[in-house]
Amino acid sequence: MIRHRRMLKDSGLKKVITYGTFDTLHFGHILLLERAKTLGDYLIVGLSSDEFNADKGKISHFTYAERKSFLEAIRFVDEVIPEHDWEQKTRDIIDHQIDIFTMGDDWAGEFDFLSDCCKVHYLSRTPAISSTLIKANLTKSNKKIS
Ligand code: CTP
Repeated sequence: MIRHRRMLKDSGLKKVITYGTFDTLHFGHILLLERAKTLGDYLIVGLSSDEFNADKGKISHFTYAERKSFLEAIRFVDEVIPEHDWEQKTRDIIDHQIDIFTMGDDWAGEFDFLSDCCKVHYLSRTPAISSTLIKANLTKSNKKIS
């Protein structure tokens, strides 16, 4: 794996990383991933583990393995790694030799401290869609049916 990473770097590829839960995958996620990929050549997604989601008070509908398989099927995504805690980002950026860290602008300013290690870029969030909204709407329509 380390050799693979070194080969990627030696090839001069610009590497981008982003993080998230990516539950109930939606077009806001796809647009974010598409734009993240255009920032460089190789996109890594740090995907919140189920345990980390629990720490954040989030319950995802799909498991880590399911969410990972959806992301891996997207052509903009080159690699998915697990995110276990808030602290690992600096380590990931160094280990994976990342050039650009990016997130939606709902996180604007939160990760500016990473600019010591790489470029930090916030992308505008797609309005009117989120995993929370999808889950709330599904619950509402299930209630109507029953
Ligand atoms: N994102 C986006 N546009 C949206 C929703 C999410 O650009 N409408 C981005 C976020 O800014 C983040 C990434 O997608 O960089 C992953 O976000 P995540 O929290 O997994 O998605 P949400 O739909 O916001 O989930 P939740 O409702 O659980 O917060």
